[in-house]
Amino acid sequence: MTDLAMFSLSDEHKMIQNAARDFAQKEILPIAAEFDESGDFPSATIKKMGALGFMGLEIPEAYGGAGMDTLAYVLALEEICKADASHGVIMSVNNSLYCHGILKFGTEEQKKKFVTPIASGKAIGAYSLTEPQSGSDAGTMKSRAVRDGDHFVLNGRKSWVTSGPVADYFVVFMMSDPAKKQKGVSAFLVEGNTPGLTRGKKEPKLGIRASATSELIFEDCHVPAENMLGKEGEGFKIAMTVLDAGRIGIATQALGIAEAAYEAARRYAVEREAFGQPIGQFQGTGFKIADMKTRIEASRLLIYNAAMAKEKSKKDGSRYSLEASMAKLFASETAMYATHQAVQIHGGMGYSKELPVERYFRDAKITEIYEGTSEIQRHVISRSELGFK
Ligand code: CAA
Repeated sequence: MTDLAMFSLSDEHKMIQNAARDFAQKEILPIAAEFDESGDFPSATIKKMGALGFMGLEIPEAYGGAGMDTLAYVLALEEICKADASHGVIMSVNNSLYCHGILKFGTEEQKKKFVTPIASGKAIGAYSLTEPQSGSDAGTMKSRAVRDGDHFVLNGRKSWVTSGPVADYFVVFMMSDPAKKQKGVSAFLVEGNTPGLTRGKKEPKLGIRASATSELIFEDCHVPAENMLGKEGEGFKIAMTVLDAGRIGIATQALGIAEAAYEAARRYAVEREAFGQPIGQFQGTGFKIADMKTRIEASRLLIYNAAMAKEKSKKDGSRYSLEASMAKLFASETAMYATHQAVQIHGGMGYSKELPVERYFRDAKITEIYEGTSEIQRHVISRSELGFK
């Protein structure tokens, strides 16, 4: 990694970065290929990450967390993702899609109950918005939440829930007033063992195979009314606000994957010889290295900028949708570019499971899809620039 001239990290930031790098290289990297192959959830390393505070880095001390800032979170996540993108997305969803929403919109009681166990690493959280018929157009969800005395009764089917098979708690978005469309969506905090909630089969995936993804099925699932996050009808805004934070996490995941691919390609370009010289001395390879490096450093700047915009938002409530979308768009397309080039530079070895390069290539693709596709990011950026609603 390059020291960026315009950023000087504090001692605290360097400390968390080093701690995450140390842990990732010693504990995650050696098992990444095995868990990618088996598709098993890496419970033991995730527990250790919880104990080290990585699963809730921005949780304030009052709820048992380390109370770090978004840059610290990004620095730690980047190191984890460089070793393994599956561990990375489990960490990202837990920190941003789950914890961030409760910390921003939850009551004191909700924070104590639903965030404190995450800070200690005893529990895992997940976020559930997407449905089989509504992904990008999230406001058209079919799941229903109907008030029944002091409870809401949830019914419906949610899909593509990261950590769905293993999570202890969920933030779930359901339509409580269909006539109001997006303004009829409400958010609920649901305990994983609530009767009426079952988990669907684990999805077989191209990449990030060690992260567990599934459907959630709600059949007359009674949730106490006090578990509503924010006010009735505020769910869509909460979902979008939280996704802004989530997108910084996925941008960082993409950065970590791109860096891992780049470092492998750079090493290979120096070591591997053809026609009597290192392949990096051929312009065809050297220029690939130059473009990978430049795009990676540009991604990093966009991500750090978005992290700072989120910090500002904590103080003045300002939106950072534009910064988060630009970071995710550029970093995810950089991850796809860098992993594609890394496979090409490695030739046949890039296609072999003997090296991690083919895993980086498979893992990179999802960063252009989840938490808002590249098309959705371009939509957010362009309408913000053009002033359209
Ligand atoms: N922050 C705060 N408020 C926001 C917001 C944001 N980022 N984005 C929209 N809103 C508000 C708007 O201001 C508007 O409020 P008012 O009506 O009061 O003005 C309201 O929400 C509706 O906004 P839009 O009219 O812009 O809504 P839209 O239907 O046009 O949708 C969209 C906008 C950007 C396309 C949005 O639907 C979107 O981001 N879609 C992608 C969803 C997505 O990322 N899904 C991934 C799910 S998670 C996942 O991937 C699984 C996992 O586990 C990792």
